[in-house]
Amino acid sequence: MHATSSFLIVANRLPVDRTIGPDGEASWRRSPGGLVTAIAPVMQRRDGAWLGWHGAPDEELKPFDHEGMHLIPIPLSSTEVELYYEGFSNATLWPLYHDVVAKPIYSRVLWDAYRAVNDRFARAAADAAAPGAVVWVQDYQLQLVPAMLRKLRPDLKIGFFLHIPFPPEELFLQLPWRREILEGLLGADLVGFQRPGGTSNFIRLVRRLLGQPNTRHEIHVDGRIVRTEAFPISVDFASMDQLVRKPSVIQRAREIRAELGDPVHVFLGVDRLDYTKGIGQRLKAFGELLSEGSLAPGEAVFVQIATPSRERVEEYRLLRDEIELQVGRINGEHGSLGQPPICYLHQSYSQEELAALYLAADVMVVTPLRDGMNLVAKEYVACRPDLRGALVLSEFAGAADELRQAYMVNPYDVEGLKRAMLAAARATPDELARRMRSMRRRVATYNVDRWANDFLSALEG
Ligand code: ADP
Ligand code: F6P
Repeated sequence: MHATSSFLIVANRLPVDRTIGPDGEASWRRSPGGLVTAIAPVMQRRDGAWLGWHGAPDEELKPFDHEGMHLIPIPLSSTEVELYYEGFSNATLWPLYHDVVAKPIYSRVLWDAYRAVNDRFARAAADAAAPGAVVWVQDYQLQLVPAMLRKLRPDLKIGFFLHIPFPPEELFLQLPWRREILEGLLGADLVGFQRPGGTSNFIRLVRRLLGQPNTRHEIHVDGRIVRTEAFPISVDFASMDQLVRKPSVIQRAREIRAELGDPVHVFLGVDRLDYTKGIGQRLKAFGELLSEGSLAPGEAVFVQIATPSRERVEEYRLLRDEIELQVGRINGEHGSLGQPPICYLHQSYSQEELAALYLAADVMVVTPLRDGMNLVAKEYVACRPDLRGALVLSEFAGAADELRQAYMVNPYDVEGLKRAMLAAARATPDELARRMRSMRRRVATYNVDRWANDFLSALEG
């Protein structure tokens, strides 16, 4: 396809997953998640296309259409998956941008692969974009694309949004390729972050490392103005709210509680199995509450859904061993036949099943050590039209800026975490309703449509 799309999304992954049917036939299914839901209608209206990797190494696919979206697969070799995706993206940038909670790997081989793959994405975007098209580049895997693309196609309007935190100076300065990353981002007309803190970190670093003149939201680069602003991402509130009102979902939520032995308190965690999510901290707090007798086994169950993620990266492998050891210890100490206090599931679930889990949970425990936003927290709020259920939320998640009526915690403070979990479990229905009503108002208004529209209006305005 050449130069025909007036609106392009450029992301590490395509918005579809390949599934194999019972007949062995492969087909594509739209990936779950708000980003796709928000952007699909914009793509349909504007003759849009989405460029991204389709998830399998060493495979070249032709562009194809799926549910009104034109998809352009970008191939990655298995070496590139190892060096660009697992390596520079997820073993260098991911830990560096999340407060260095794991040690980042700085390697020139990984950097070379990151640059080469970013260049491939930029060239493919330059080929696919119509004159004057709007191109929206997503996330940390593609930070060099804006400048590379501008060089090839100065006629385009280029936006960039970072879904993860943008770190403070003290941490970002560790990166041997810090100037190159900033220069890459400055190829965009608009650079969006989740929180205002990300914007100010970016501005400060640009001033310090590149000496570009700037104001709080504008940077002057080669006679252009690059704007930067925070756009907190959200969820598709209306569709989750509707889904959770379906009788089948309500019924499933009842079944889940029954399967857990109808305990008084159901605690829930839903995360990718990632060391930034603070899963160990929350399980430790739960284990101590059982040991101290503040909660009795049988009275409380903790359901921890830990989605498999980035399983070939060393730190993720170590984390899985740690968490599974911890779950085994707590269950071994406090469980009885058929009644483990922690129900740990290392699996992916459908949106319906997740919605039923949210509805079944009395206390949703979201305790990341650092998180760009954390959509799970907002999904929980969207799934509680009954105004019951409490949210325990880390102050280090982007969502904490908006969900101020959550039970706020510092996940490193185990005693504080225990107090918040107990307070949430013991809150009165009136207290829960008061908090939930106000959080729902916020998520209903600032939904994912609003996020996409705000960003695109700022880019095109
Ligand atoms: P991150 O982007 O770091 O994974 P978020 O909380 O922002 O964290 O988003 C996670 C998304 O993945 C949410 O939309 C959530 O519903 C989904 N998700 C998490 N665990 C599962 C699971 N086991 N099965 C299906 N979807 C999941
Ligand atoms: O939130 C960051 C992010 O990289 C998202 O872009 C992505 O959907 C999610 O984490 C899962 O990551 P991966 O694509 O590495 O499986």
